[in-house]
Amino acid sequence: MCGIIGYVGPQGAQRVLVDALRRMEYRGYDSAGIALVGPDGIASAKKAGKLVNLENELEASPIKDANLGIGHTRWATHGAPSDANAHPHVSANGRVALIHNGIIENFASLKAELVAEGVPFKSETDSEVAAQMLGREVERGASLADALRAVSRRLEGAFTLVAVDADDTGTLVASRRNSPLVVGVGEGEMFVASDVAAFIEHTREAVEMGQDEVVEVTASGYRVTDFRGNETQGKPYHVDWDLSAAEKGGFDWFMRKEIHEQPQAVADTLLGRFDADRRLTLDEVRISEAELRTIDKIVIVACGTAFYAGLVAKYAIEHWTRVPCEVEIASEFRYRDPIITGRTLVVTISQSGETADTLMAVRHAREQGAKVIAICNTNGSTIPRESDAVLYTHAGPEIGVASTKGFMTQVAACYLLGLYLAQVRGTKYGDEIATIMRELESMPAKIQKVLDAQQQVLDLAAELVDSKTVLFLGRHVGYPVALEGALKLKEIAYLHAEGFPAGELKHGPIALVEQDLPVFVIVPPQGRDQLHDKVVSNIQEVRARGARTIVLVEEGDHEVEPYADVLIRLPQASTLLQPLLATVPLQVFACELATLLGHDADQPRNLAKSVTVE
Ligand code: F6R
Repeated sequence: MCGIIGYVGPQGAQRVLVDALRRMEYRGYDSAGIALVGPDGIASAKKAGKLVNLENELEASPIKDANLGIGHTRWATHGAPSDANAHPHVSANGRVALIHNGIIENFASLKAELVAEGVPFKSETDSEVAAQMLGREVERGASLADALRAVSRRLEGAFTLVAVDADDTGTLVASRRNSPLVVGVGEGEMFVASDVAAFIEHTREAVEMGQDEVVEVTASGYRVTDFRGNETQGKPYHVDWDLSAAEKGGFDWFMRKEIHEQPQAVADTLLGRFDADRRLTLDEVRISEAELRTIDKIVIVACGTAFYAGLVAKYAIEHWTRVPCEVEIASEFRYRDPIITGRTLVVTISQSGETADTLMAVRHAREQGAKVIAICNTNGSTIPRESDAVLYTHAGPEIGVASTKGFMTQVAACYLLGLYLAQVRGTKYGDEIATIMRELESMPAKIQKVLDAQQQVLDLAAELVDSKTVLFLGRHVGYPVALEGALKLKEIAYLHAEGFPAGELKHGPIALVEQDLPVFVIVPPQGRDQLHDKVVSNIQEVRARGARTIVLVEEGDHEVEPYADVLIRLPQASTLLQPLLATVPLQVFACELATLLGHDADQPRNLAKSVTVE
């Protein structure tokens, strides 16, 4: 997830672009850059780090202003955050400058083609491939718009591309597939951007672009076509959000926006993970397959929500790989002299990549000779840098302090890792792995379905707003989901909440149950999970003692109906994938309850997004 802006009009483009990037910095902040097109061709500046680094660079080494330009603020996916990997990318022949948001899944084969033809590359990004392809097309005589249509047809994955041509000081072109693009229509000036926050200071008239469309923009108008060149219509609308609402995509909190971004975040995390033979690959593997075959123990180490993602993963990883898998809180792991050898694989999970407790665990594990794989959302952060390999989640920046899309993408990435290990080591679950991969790819649409039905959860939060305690019960992977549901409530609604394994209730916690106590229960799939009936019995146990039962259960399961005060329906999924669905209503519930109680859901008291102290 990056922020992109294009401008053409009478104003100096440099200021317009830098101001727009400042308003989109929440979309990515590991590097920024602009390119301007004037009579002398393309001038560009780009810098790793926050936008202020680019501004300082532009002050120290000014570039000539122009009336046409593009700007980009990056959240790295392919290639570390560095000056070279920052956008815009200029084609080797100097003709085209391009910015990109998304992931080009087939970039490796396209790049190999270009390299074989002698095209030199300056960056490690997937995006530069599109810049080089466009450069070649225009050199062969295609118009920039025709070139973009041709290139877009060849790309797979998710992309918004915006490009300018050194020989045309009045036109910019943009295309989109599975990534956002909106056109801003001003008076005698036009904008293209990833969201309206970039330009609402200048105009509130916008045009939404459809899937697989290209737009050609000049100062006086725009023309939309599909990738084949057939004319289509964008959807014009008026933006009435204020600036802060615009940054949050119209939501009241970044947290709520991030909950709604989860289908895309999970889809992006799954994108580009296969090679041409449909074999899974890791981003940066510095651990050989031979070494992975000798692993005799896996230890997952993380904190908070990331630890719960690890607990979910344990069930899947042990099932698929038959390698023992322990999950441990990072601050405990480091200080208890754990048994770690050269045959232990330590997997750390961290959204920020900077959590001190997790970082110390990485260092400790490597000192003991273990190999460390980081699952991380922040490209170039310390934990992946100090690890032997990394698997990035592609959630985009998470601004809300309470992790939501971070958790969901961590679960997805852990599953990819488990499947990868099973693939490398060979496994008797071969067929099951192919099935689960297909099912994983269907999850974004199912998560969206859960979100589409959230009104019921919002109403429930209003009904339960005076609760003092809430319990969450689950078994197997439903247990960490229960823990995560309780943590969300604690941290943003400041409510006493506990998650328990439902089978453990009778050994103590059931004493907490009293009249009208809200108890959420996650029910495993009926008929496909041996624990289904046991959880239904657990629901009856708490209900008999007066609890108000809120039951998360898949569509078509009618057995629980007599025992549920509230039924929250989930799309059908296999047991291991159910956490990607069951967590969503719990996040929505916590966010809504915090809002109703008047708390700041994005910045809860006493908490920080990145905990860089032990
Ligand atoms: C809870 C939450 C925290 C983090 C934890 C680890 O909503 O966000 O519990 O999960 O502090 O942070 P990372 O993943 O950045 O290492």
